[in-house]
Amino acid sequence: MDLKAHAETPLYTGLDHYAKSKTIHFDVPGHKKNPTSPLAEAFGERIALLDANSTKDLDMLSNPTGIIKRAEGLLADAYGADYAFMLVNGSTFGVITMIMSACGPKDKIIMPRNVHKSAINGIILSGALPVFIDPEIDPEYGITNGITYDSVKEALKENPDAKGIFLINPTYFGTVSDLKAIVKLAHRRGIPVLVDEAHGSHFPFHPDLPDSAMSLGADLSTVSIHKTGGSLTQTSALLLNKGLISKEKVRTIINLMQTTSASYLLLASLDLARKHLAINGKKIWGKLLPLCEKAKAEIGKIPGLSVISRDEYVNGKEIYDYDDTKIVVRVNELGLTGFEVYDLFKEKYQIQLELAETYVVLAIVGPGDTEENIALLVNAFKSLSQEYYGQRPPFNIPLAGFFERPRTVIAPRDAFYGVKKAVPIQEANGEISAESIMIYPPGIPLVIPGERITDDILKHYNFYLNQNCIIMNDDGNTEFVKVLGE
Ligand SMILES: Cc1ncc(COP(=O)(O)O)c(C=O)c1O
Repeated sequence: MDLKAHAETPLYTGLDHYAKSKTIHFDVPGHKKNPTSPLAEAFGERIALLDANSTKDLDMLSNPTGIIKRAEGLLADAYGADYAFMLVNGSTFGVITMIMSACGPKDKIIMPRNVHKSAINGIILSGALPVFIDPEIDPEYGITNGITYDSVKEALKENPDAKGIFLINPTYFGTVSDLKAIVKLAHRRGIPVLVDEAHGSHFPFHPDLPDSAMSLGADLSTVSIHKTGGSLTQTSALLLNKGLISKEKVRTIINLMQTTSASYLLLASLDLARKHLAINGKKIWGKLLPLCEKAKAEIGKIPGLSVISRDEYVNGKEIYDYDDTKIVVRVNELGLTGFEVYDLFKEKYQIQLELAETYVVLAIVGPGDTEENIALLVNAFKSLSQEYYGQRPPFNIPLAGFFERPRTVIAPRDAFYGVKKAVPIQEANGEISAESIMIYPPGIPLVIPGERITDDILKHYNFYLNQNCIIMNDDGNTEFVKVLGE
């Protein structure tokens, strides 16, 4: 990486010139930089000055030739990729684009079942056929992890005609699979590897973090720079290593769906985050990683709690590597569910955790965190234990059936476009779902279009419903589900 080049911010600098220029605007956006507009009054004049649409000077996201092209070049360099595409609709859009770039209707794609809903959306939009692999399960923490090399090998043996392999690096809970070996295996067969790195945008910037997909030779990766890299929410990058998938194909797919009026505030935030990561990333995570380790050591000693730490968790096979900036704490020994702890942290300690699962909560440490904040997190866990440990019996429910993969009966796209009827969800046992139902976060579907609804799925659904989790389906009605049939 040429650090000197990374001191530049071509996109942000161009936008700053635009903001300062005295041009009279008879183009869009309609607020016209007017300092008395409601927008400027609410957010500050600078926001209105920086909010622009494409012009010749500002370049165009769908066909960049100027400052966006230069900024994307720097982004690619920072991530060790051949090309980078800036995205303003998150990694949701990146994941969909990756799948549509590799697969068309009826093409097979191998993927773990614990994918984010965006991958299911990519399957529906492309018409591809998912070949699901079961992720590894940690029954103690009640979480799903990565997939093994052997499971991919087996899936490839049974589906040598697969057009892509889709992986998550890392999972929401921080687990990393043996991506290097899987890339090698796939490339020997000429199959591209697509990586959802929504939670790994910081990986290239410190040697003690897991390896990034681009550095291991994956073909496409999408990184939510907004999640762990410090840019504004919604901003991601799609990264490409040339070879099996062409830049032109990716550009065509992006331009099918991306807005023609991308926000320059969002784009410029990517430029600023890239500079910060490239120049200061090593220092930032050099400070944060030991703080995470120390916090985990302290949390691990608190009565009733246990925590995942890289040194103890990585076993080289099922768990190839681990991102220690994810703090996964098991709380059920306190007699509480993760869902209860998630709410208690907000109510009692004003701490917003990233997500809860049945037995665990997840805190994510990012580049904006400080030693003081991390200490407050640890103290909150101490207080929680003081109040609850020994007061209630440990919370235990049978988790085994939670992770059983539903059976696909018809292709997700065919189910999505099939004739549907709404039935009361409690009576849907045996029906074929025509919609995705997911718990958010993490947004991993309990059932997707084309899968058979079982008694087990309904039990889990009711469990999450009773825990007041956010359940997402097509229409927000949690009492009915759309299934196939007149
Ligand atoms: C694993 C995974 N992939 C993709 C996404 C989508 O990312 P974004 O929110 O940037 O659209 C998420 C979001 O939480 C995610 O958890």
